[in-house]
Amino acid sequence: MTARIRPDLATIPAYVPGRNHPDAVKLASNETTFGPLPSAAKAIAEAAELANRYPDNQVSELRAALAEFLGVTVAEVAVGCGSVALCQELVQITCDAPTDEVVFAWRSFEAYPIVTQVGNATAVRVPLTEGHLHDLDAMAGAVTDRTKLIFVCNPNNPSGTAHGRAELERFLDRVPAHVLVVLDEAYYEYLRLTPETRPDGVEIGRTRPNVVVLRTFSKAYGLAGLRVGYAVGHPEVITALLKVHIPFSVNRVAQAAAIASLQAHGELLDRTDVLVAQRHQLRAALLAAGYEVPPSEANFVWLPLRERSIEFAEASALAGVLVRPFAGDGVRVTVGDPHENEQFLSFATAPETAARFR
Ligand SMILES: Cc1ncc(COP(=O)(O)O)c(C=O)c1O
Repeated sequence: MTARIRPDLATIPAYVPGRNHPDAVKLASNETTFGPLPSAAKAIAEAAELANRYPDNQVSELRAALAEFLGVTVAEVAVGCGSVALCQELVQITCDAPTDEVVFAWRSFEAYPIVTQVGNATAVRVPLTEGHLHDLDAMAGAVTDRTKLIFVCNPNNPSGTAHGRAELERFLDRVPAHVLVVLDEAYYEYLRLTPETRPDGVEIGRTRPNVVVLRTFSKAYGLAGLRVGYAVGHPEVITALLKVHIPFSVNRVAQAAAIASLQAHGELLDRTDVLVAQRHQLRAALLAAGYEVPPSEANFVWLPLRERSIEFAEASALAGVLVRPFAGDGVRVTVGDPHENEQFLSFATAPETAARFR
């Protein structure tokens, strides 16, 4: 290496690809197991024929479709190369000094500390509660005059837990209006809280200009491989996001597939009911085997196995099921097809496994 690279990047671990065995069941990445709908597959094929042309950098058609779907204006919608790109762009538009602070719960989405460091800002991690929920009081208490951005992951990845609308509103009441709060709702479509308690960031944001909501086509819409996510917020926030957006990073195929999938949202959202039923069964079986499993509102369940997490994931891989361990904290298991969940359960609930790990 001869060129000088920012020395602080040395503390960010180099990317390690997830394990992949062709024959293993993969319950490690919170993907959906269904392929794209026929209408999306057709849109993908048609868009691919125009691959020699740049995509629409303004993502106009998809933004208009999202605005109509959500009941907001186009000026309130930005689209990114996955919502993870928008996480990074949100740090870029709020932080401009190493002393600037980004507050988030921990453990939460693993990209938050990375995008904070890449943005040359300071991460402030607030531990989850004993019940594996965001500690919203402690997060509000962690706000200082250096705080520029707060990520609230609801439902939380990887613990699966979610706060209801009233708790979120109470928290937001305590955050100064000049601090931008990101409600990251990547798993929004899997929430099954009652209509009165169900948190909907887009609704909450209507009266709070310092709230921006992130959602994605990667999970319930099944387009993880194409990379499309979106932000909904105040036009000034959205305008700033468009300024830092990497030009043309939401490609033509992704835009076409997202529009087709949004048109078929009824069919896609029906699939989430099937997944939620499986989630209940998976959790019930794990609880019955003696594991601690917090209630999940997402497409995965969380096993807080602490120092035994890596060992559990390795044993699961030997049994042909890849799950996602977070060293020292727990193991996240994506809800898959019934036969995949069964294969995982036959490993996890086997008397010798349960005796070793629960
Ligand atoms: C909480 C959360 N936010 C954002 C993302 C990013 O999703 P994508 O970049 O695929 O839209 C994920 C993906 O796992 C996530 O768990």
